[in-house]
Parts: sequence; C-alpha cells; structure tokens
Amino acid sequence: MCGIVGYIGTKQAAPLIVQGLKRLEYRGYDSAGVCLLADGGIRIEKKAGRVMDLERAVDMDQLHGTVGVGHTRWATHGVPNDANAHPHTDQSGTIALVHNGIIENYLTIKKKLLNAGYTFRSDTDSEVLAVFIGMLYETLQDLEQAVRTALAEVEGTFGIVVISTHDPDMIIAARRGSPLILGIGNGEYLVASDAAAVIAHTRQVVYLNENEMAILRRDGFQTKTIANIDTHSVVEEIAFELEQIEKGGFEHFMLKEIYEQPITFRDGFRGRLQTEEGTVKLGGLATVREKLQSAKRIIITACGTSWHAALVGEYLIEALARVPVEVEYASEFRYRNPIISSDDVVIAISQSGETADTLAAIREAKLKGATVIGMVNVVGSTIARETDAGVYLHAGPEIGVASTKAFTSQLCVLTQFALYMGRMRGLSAEEGKRIAQELERIPEYISMILERADDVKAIAHAYAHASNFLYLGRGYNFPAALEGALKLKEISYIHAEGYPAAEMKHGPIALIDENMPVVFIAPHDEIYDKIVSNIEEVRARNGRVIAIADDEDTYIENVANHVLRVPRTLPILTPILASIPLQLLAYYIAVERGCNVDMPRNLAKSVTVE
Ligand code: AGP
Ligand code: GLU
Repeated sequence: MCGIVGYIGTKQAAPLIVQGLKRLEYRGYDSAGVCLLADGGIRIEKKAGRVMDLERAVDMDQLHGTVGVGHTRWATHGVPNDANAHPHTDQSGTIALVHNGIIENYLTIKKKLLNAGYTFRSDTDSEVLAVFIGMLYETLQDLEQAVRTALAEVEGTFGIVVISTHDPDMIIAARRGSPLILGIGNGEYLVASDAAAVIAHTRQVVYLNENEMAILRRDGFQTKTIANIDTHSVVEEIAFELEQIEKGGFEHFMLKEIYEQPITFRDGFRGRLQTEEGTVKLGGLATVREKLQSAKRIIITACGTSWHAALVGEYLIEALARVPVEVEYASEFRYRNPIISSDDVVIAISQSGETADTLAAIREAKLKGATVIGMVNVVGSTIARETDAGVYLHAGPEIGVASTKAFTSQLCVLTQFALYMGRMRGLSAEEGKRIAQELERIPEYISMILERADDVKAIAHAYAHASNFLYLGRGYNFPAALEGALKLKEISYIHAEGYPAAEMKHGPIALIDENMPVVFIAPHDEIYDKIVSNIEEVRARNGRVIAIADDEDTYIENVANHVLRVPRTLPILTPILASIPLQLLAYYIAVERGCNVDMPRNLAKSVTVE
C-alpha cells in the first residue's frame, strides 16, 4: 500500500533511501518524498509522481544527512499532489513522519487540534498524526512518549517512522496492521515496508509485530510494545536473493515473473510431492493434521487473484477430499459475523501476507475458534505469522502488481493440499499417484506454452483496442476465466468480465456483437461439448471467439476465430495451464496500449488498507 524506508548510520542517507524506495514502488507510487536530518535542521523534498520524478527535481547528492526517511504513497485521504505527499511534519516543522495505513479517527483528532489552534497543509490523515505527536511533544518533551501517547489514541492501521531534530540520532518505528521490517547492519540500521528495500545492505532482519515499536540508534536498537513493555526481538535471515528482485533482462517484472513459472511451480511441490506413495508431505500442517482429518467444513478466504485461486481450490478439495468448501471474499467475511465453529478450518490465501481484509478475516475466524491455515508467499509476513499453520508458496518475490506466478503457485499448493486431504479421506494411492505424476509434468507444460508466446502476441495485436472483453469457462475454468479478465482489466484498463460459460445466455449474451472478443477456456473434459455449444451461440451473434484449447483438440478450429494451444492434462489441472496464455494476452495488450504494466494506475501490490 505504500513504501517506507528509514536509515540511521554513517552513510549519506538520501541516495540509499531513494534506492530503497525504488525497490518498494510496486507497493504504491502516486507520490514520493524524503526527509533528512543534518546540522540541527530538517530538510524535506516531496512531490506527486514516481520516485524518478523526485530524483529529477532534487539532486539527492545535495541532500546531506546520515539519518533520514522516505515514502512512496498510495493515496487514501487526499489526492496525489505535492502537499499530500509524505513525509509530513508537526506544526513546528521539527518532527517528521511517514505513514502506511489509515487513521480512521483522524477527523476526531483533527477537530481537537484545529480547536487548539493548529493548522494543516494537507488533506491527509497522516499529517493529523504528525501534528498530534508534535502537540504532545510540546508538553511531554519526550519524542518516544509523545509517539506512544498519540498511537494509544489512534484507531485504524499504521506503519509509521518518525524522526526529529529534537533527537537527531534516533529513529522511531511503530506498526499496527501495516508491515515494518528492521534491517540490522553493522553500525547502521534500516526500517522498511518489506525486505526488498533492505537486502542490498543486510540480510539480517527483525519483523516488527502488531502493536510493536522500535527505537533505532547507530549503536543499537530496542523493541517494545506501544504500551511501553520491552519485547524480545528475533533476528532472522531474508529468504531471497537480491537478483530475484531485479528484472534480469526482461522489459517488465510481470513478464519476468510469467517466465519464471516453470521454476516457481516446481518449487511449489519440491520436497513435498511423494509421487510413488501418491501423497504429499506438508510439514507446515503437522500441528493441525488431526484438525484437518476431522474438519467438517473448509472456508477459504482471500482477495483478488488469491480469491480466484480459492475458487479453484473449492473444486479441487471437494473433488479429491469430499469436504464441503466455501469461498469467501475476505472483505465480506470479516464483517458479516460468520457462523464459525471449532470443527471449521479456515484457509487464508495471500501472496503478500499483508492484505488488510484477509488479515482481518483470519483474526475473526480465530476469535470464533476455527483452525486457521495460511497459504502465503512472503515468508515472515503478518498472515504467515498469525495463522496456526501454513504452506508457503515458494514463488519468490512477486514485484509486478498484477499477480501471475503467485497465482499458479497458489494452485500448485491447493492441488497438493487437496491431495493431502483426499488421501486422509479415502482417495486411493493409485489416483493420488496419477495426480502427482501429472503435477510433476506441469512445469514442462508451462515451458511449452511460453514457447508459443508469439501466437498470443498476434492475437493481442488484433484486439488491443477492443473496449470490452468477455472471458468464459466452466467448472475448474470458471475461476480461470475470472482471473484472465482481472489480468486484462488491471494492466490494460480494458473492461473485461469473467463468467461461467453457461451463464452467458442468461444476460451477457446481449453484449455480443462483432466488437466483442470472447475468450473461451475450452479444455477437452467432460463438459467440452457444452463449451462448444456456447461458442456456437457467440459465433451466431458475430462475436469474435478466442479459444484456449489443448494440443489434441482437432475440432475447435471449426468454431473459434483464434485458438491458443496448451498441452492436454487432467481436468483438475487445466486452470493452471489456461492461465498462462491469458497472462501473456493481458501483458501484450497492455504493452500495445502503452500502459505501465508493472505499476498500473490506481493499484498497489499489497492492499494493506480497507
Ligand atoms: C492481483 O493481480 C491483484 N494485484 C490483486 O487482486 C491481489 O491479488 C489482491 O490484492 C490480493 O493480494 P494478496 O494475494 O497479496 O493478498
Ligand atoms: N493514509 C495515508 C495517505 O493517504 C497513507 C496512505 C499509504 O499507505 O500510502 O496519505
């Protein structure tokens, strides 16, 4: 939702902070700013636009100081402009703050401050917190205490970093609902929204916990609760390499991550799949195995692409384990007072592990007694740490805002989970082995599809300027249709809808004409003939049909205008393969339209606010 980088040490902070902000820009990028402390003074440079725009406007080498903080914003209160960019200061301009999250009671606090004669330069909720801390400091004359007192009154979410000329050799960081990580260097310390901004300097990190704060000085750091109770911090090792967050010669992170999928999919089952026995070893679920064995219902909760993976998971788990599964948007689940019992297992799927709605959903589920499992990509993320057990995706850092490799890795983990559950509940070893053997072939199948990228590029060229798209699929591929539509929407800004193919005739068919490209996911499964009928219905209304079909299908050319081929596989695995050409289709259309593929407008990689 935004990127935060703070530094205290012996190096000039500005260039280092800016480099860190660039590595976090995928988290939010409508404006950026830095604040440095030097020679008793405070210097802030901030503006709307990308970090590179800030760099063009300000010579960072002229910004001196070895203590500083920076921010890339994803606006929630106040349009993206120079005044609303972070850092914000208190009234006296001696305390600076950057903030990730939402201060929900900011208007109440603002009214109190206005009545006390304070003024504001921005429309943001964050500035209210800065001014509030400044007001408290005037009385307390202790910055740490002023921060703790202010945060005790705040409702909502925050990841904040505060620096001040009152104590120029100190950085204060605090979190509730928005992630912060400490980088432990040699005589230098960093604080950032995630490890991507830290790894160039150190691999030793501390993940701040909920309602925890840190006081950083050059000679050491201390962690405590916001209620001022010392806490024990565990120094951990960052789980990925620096080159994994670089583009590696690809034009965009998204394309790199699409092409990483043969590797990342294999990493999702490496060391887990027990092919000969037809089962799966999921060490992260050992502590909840009995709960899984006796579970009467599974609820999967997630957002966006992860919710689409959850829908595939419903089909998988019900097919292989015969356990009733419900899929819930996390944002809905958290507020509808769900009926949960201790017999329920709730699974949270999240690439970032920081999505506010998903985090709130699992907290609700835990409160009501469910066993909660995480299927998360980012190691050490909040959801990963707050669930009772879990299975990491092992997809590596996903930088592109549009999720690709994380989606197929989620399906990899969900398939294994369904197999794991199924084998506990009557699925035969023979069937398990058949599924495991086919799962092992998926990386090769993905590579084969990627080799056909030019076929996708040609179709993208033909339809890049369509105004609307329909994506249709049945069964396992209905969620894949939803995901294909979301990919197109979020990076090309073309309106696209995913629909169950059979539902098209109950309304959306009215949209069909020669200007409407319709993508059909048409694997050769037991409902193939039904899909072909749906394709005929579209063609009868002059719709343009793009079919995703398997290599052995000799009929599809008779009904589709265009065919994109994928290797034939088990029906339960078809959404994995179908998603690859749809990722490429969205990518090439977005590139053709000149869109910012890695940082689409209005979006952010991790939505840590409601
Ligand atoms: C996917 O392309 C989107 N960027 C978005 O829908 C994303 O899937 C959603 O915000 C959930 O994120 P998470 O998986 O990190 O929880
Ligand atoms: N709510 C703050 C603002 O709108 C912070 C947004 C963010 O997390 O980037 O400025």
